[in-house]
Amino acid sequence: MKVNGKHFRTVWMEGSTVCLIEQNLLPFEFRIFRAENYRDSCRTISSMIVRGAGAIGATAGFAMAQAFVEGGDDGGFIEKAREEIKNTRPTAQNLFYAVERVYRAGSLSTAQFSAERAVNEAFRIADEDAEACRQIGKLGNELISDGSRIETHCNAGWLAFVDYGSALSPVYAAHRSGKQVFVYADETRPRGQGARLTAWELKNENVPHVIIADNAGAHLMSHGMVDMMIVGSDRIVANGDVANKIGTLEKAIVAQYYGIPFYVAAPSSTIDFDCATGADIPIEHRHQDEVLYQSGPNANGETENILISSPGSDALNPAFDVTPAGLVTAIITESGIFKPQELAVLNSQN
Ligand code: MRU
Repeated sequence: MKVNGKHFRTVWMEGSTVCLIEQNLLPFEFRIFRAENYRDSCRTISSMIVRGAGAIGATAGFAMAQAFVEGGDDGGFIEKAREEIKNTRPTAQNLFYAVERVYRAGSLSTAQFSAERAVNEAFRIADEDAEACRQIGKLGNELISDGSRIETHCNAGWLAFVDYGSALSPVYAAHRSGKQVFVYADETRPRGQGARLTAWELKNENVPHVIIADNAGAHLMSHGMVDMMIVGSDRIVANGDVANKIGTLEKAIVAQYYGIPFYVAAPSSTIDFDCATGADIPIEHRHQDEVLYQSGPNANGETENILISSPGSDALNPAFDVTPAGLVTAIITESGIFKPQELAVLNSQN
């Protein structure tokens, strides 16, 4: 991905420092955050400096690698770090996938550790995810006709998945191949990943788009204004159920009602074959202030939080929902496009 003509990844490592695009400041300010140790990296995940399944996974992998660098031969330190990193957020499968891969790579035995192998594995995970998402773009592009109007929910672009993005990768591929595409970006309350991040990415890529209020989708679909939906995923499970940002389920129900194809794009690192159904996916509940307040720059450019709700009322803030496999037209992966009930094929390939 390019920002102002310069190539960036969402997250990378320089020496033992993890560098990340500070997503909480976007779209108003582009800044790189430097996490000097694994605890700093944990905070970037829990405070959503980095967010989106793949970017969280890459960060968690680098954080685990940092723990090997910091811990040396202290197995207890490395074990503790492994648990701390896994406790930063509960839903995105990529987090657990990356931590365990790096942990295995760096643990030569119960008493011997290799920071070098851990660091190399963390880089490999980020590279593999980027390449998988590039492939998703290529395959997904074949589903997009010239002139398509595509709705997406949350941000599953290159900020969320290392370099190419998951749901937006086919959109970018279609746009670059000369097709006319138009994107409706759901604003995605409460944190506004669609309004803030997807819109910013699409503008960077010169893809025509508008931001729509979360509750506008059904209206647009009922008026024949949406040709397809493509969303990303935080975790896909064995039976094809899909966890994604809160609000996705409503879109999928409406899309099926109006006969609009509903695609999910995600690399195999997001699939959790140990989870049988969506009911087993841990759903994160976040702080009520994300619903009650909104933040943005004031006239002096300083970030301010503004109360936008009736004072004294509490809010409920589930961050994800599960879309049943039956509402999903197909899942676009790096290895092919599968009906949700066909996903098991990928498990037998591993
Ligand atoms: O809470 P977030 O911003 O980390 O949400 C995760 C997501 O980015 C989305 O659910 C996204 O649509 C799929 S992950 C690429």
